[in-house]
Amino acid sequence: MIYLDHAATSFPKPERVFRAMDDFARTSAANPGRGGHHRATEAEAMVEDTRRLLARLFCFSKPERIVFTLNATDALNMAIKGVLKPGDHVITSVLEHNSVSRPLNRLAADGVITLTRLEVGSDHRIDPGDVARAFTPATRLVAITQVSNVTGTIQPVEAIGKIVRDKNALLLVDAAQSAGVIPITMGAACIDLLAFTGHKALLGPTGTGGLVVGERANVMPWREGGTGGDTSSPVHPGAYPHRLEGGTPNVMGLAGLREGIRLILERGVESILPCERRLLAVFQGALKDAGRFHWYGADKTISEQGGEGRVGLVTLNLPGFAPAELAAILDGQFDIAVRAGLHCAPYAHGHLGTFPDGAVRISLGWQTTEEDMKTAAAAFNEISGVA
Ligand SMILES: Cc1ncc(COP(=O)(O)O)c(C=O)c1O
Repeated sequence: MIYLDHAATSFPKPERVFRAMDDFARTSAANPGRGGHHRATEAEAMVEDTRRLLARLFCFSKPERIVFTLNATDALNMAIKGVLKPGDHVITSVLEHNSVSRPLNRLAADGVITLTRLEVGSDHRIDPGDVARAFTPATRLVAITQVSNVTGTIQPVEAIGKIVRDKNALLLVDAAQSAGVIPITMGAACIDLLAFTGHKALLGPTGTGGLVVGERANVMPWREGGTGGDTSSPVHPGAYPHRLEGGTPNVMGLAGLREGIRLILERGVESILPCERRLLAVFQGALKDAGRFHWYGADKTISEQGGEGRVGLVTLNLPGFAPAELAAILDGQFDIAVRAGLHCAPYAHGHLGTFPDGAVRISLGWQTTEEDMKTAAAAFNEISGVA
């Protein structure tokens, strides 16, 4: 099987991630912070170590302000609903995943906030100038993705961050497709809130993710309950991370996530992108007639600019084939897993002109090889009748 759907979730996880979860589940998976016995303290130490590793990965000096969530969706909802107040204005873009668009649309539909959704140009990037021009005196939050899960383009987060900081608003970055793929520096990029997921390029299991809460942001909790500490207090503790972490955490998942992050830190996050871009070029070079495909801007970037400005994710269509049909043929006849459709980002497909059928997304990951890309290209050649 050739798995080219890493943007949905990485698969399979590295062997050492499986092993870490198995070992942890058998030896120390007690309830962290809920008890003084050594297994509970070991579990707590593992959770805190995972926080520290994430702080290293995101160049962030306050690990206690990294809170664990179920996934990126959970973290984005926590941030959006935890900072916005009635009357606030929010700036977002057409590139956003539904996990950003839907909570914002709901708040706007309920009359709580007003919303500006920025269009993007033919380079599939948000123009920082457009962000500056969209500000109103009520703008409290700018919520954008760092990497589009549809176009694969890296957004100018640092330039946008400076504008947002100057205007004294908050920047929420959806790092679902960027964490573990591109270096992220919370401070230099002026990011106030960073939502990440554990099960994609961080190589952890599903059910893991988190929100990094910068010092300018304060997120109101919406999940209150047991934290293991401050038990006599009638209300939920206000200090991070417990402020946003009511209930028993996913300790087994975090044991796997910790191993995934360790692996990325050992490999060096800056080494991942050049490798993915080279593999995309191998794929494109092995296609006999790349011009037959609709590439949505990626073809020239890959062949003429070495994939600069994008990650190892490409969305394309083959005229004459519905995206779902092409993906089904790849799956059924060639055992190649890709994702067809709207990728939970309908506005992005509106921008590409591929709404409502969508397109076929090929996304690379940690174990994708040159051979995989050549085999995938051969399948595309055969389907398009040029083999
Ligand atoms: C850009 C982007 N944001 C958010 C998400 C949601 O991530 P999760 O499924 O971990 O909640 C995804 C998942 O595909 C994504 O690609």
